[in-house]
Amino acid sequence: MLELKNTGKVRDSYVVSSDPSRLVVVATDRISAYDVVMTEGVPRKGRVLTAVSLFWFDALKGKLATQTPVLFDKVDLDAIGLHDEFLGRTTSVRRAEMVPIECVVRGYLAGSAWKEYLRYQSVGDIAMRSGLMLGSKLDRPVFTPTTKEAEGHDLPLSLSQLRARVGTSLACELEEISLFVYGEAMRVAADKGLVIADTKFEFGYIDGKLALCDEVLTPDSSRYWRVESMGLGREPVQLDKQILRDWLSETGWNGAGRPPTLDAKVIEKLSLSYVAIYETLSGLSFTDWPGNYDLRCYLGERTNKYES
Ligand SMILES: Nc1ncnc2c1ncn2[C@@H]1O[C@H](COP(=O)(O)OP(=O)(O)O)[C@@H](O)[C@H]1O
Ligand SMILES: [Mg+2]
Repeated sequence: MLELKNTGKVRDSYVVSSDPSRLVVVATDRISAYDVVMTEGVPRKGRVLTAVSLFWFDALKGKLATQTPVLFDKVDLDAIGLHDEFLGRTTSVRRAEMVPIECVVRGYLAGSAWKEYLRYQSVGDIAMRSGLMLGSKLDRPVFTPTTKEAEGHDLPLSLSQLRARVGTSLACELEEISLFVYGEAMRVAADKGLVIADTKFEFGYIDGKLALCDEVLTPDSSRYWRVESMGLGREPVQLDKQILRDWLSETGWNGAGRPPTLDAKVIEKLSLSYVAIYETLSGLSFTDWPGNYDLRCYLGERTNKYES
């Protein structure tokens, strides 16, 4: 028996009654921006997120405790009554007691960190040197955690606010592991001509031990740049969810109320860019990833409600 436990912005999670220690996570083709789920999906997205995340869990194997994700094949899906639409997007992970913190690491100046730098010459309240530009490499990667809100926007936390919230020991652990994983990932990405400008991790307790959970280093949770598009005095070419944010801001929508209907061109660009990130990282063709390589979206169980 499958029981739906959670419908997040992108993933639906289920528990199989025969093994409550694990979670069945289905990455749908939903996409969100400013914490609002769009009406349209992005073809292949859930399968790419699954492929990219599994690539990183594999690359990190043996280096830290994780939720140990396992991809479902057709036989596994059949056994719990799920059909082919779930192929390539469904994993089983160890169920964790999540720490409600978004562990953001930034190696380059972009997004809200760029805005903060322009106003205060700091990033996550940490003073930076002058003269940095949009896309500049920071002298060292910085940990800029935020809250993880069930609804609405996450709020930035200074390191002292984080310590006050979760205690000094867990705060240190979150920072240390986040910076460690980011450093490992940057080495792997550099070999493929990619830079991860920033990313977000989530951790949880499994058997009393802190473990890396959720999606890891996907184009939803990270900014990916191609090295050759950097340092040209302008913003690097966007390959990740930033494509959607940029398009949305051109339409004038700022996150309030019903989002605009996504243009077919922006949907296609997102789909192709996400696939390209997987292929660049893995050196494999995404057409070989399990499941249907077609344009049909699987949108899962979430129903969107918009404030007007
Ligand atoms: N190993 C795990 N055990 C329990 N919950 C998890 C685990 N890994 C991730 N989660 C949670 O599952 C949800 C994933 O779905 P997602 O669509 O990303 O949700 P959100 O809208 O909260 O980002 C998140 O709420 C995340 O905190
Ligand atoms: Mg998430």
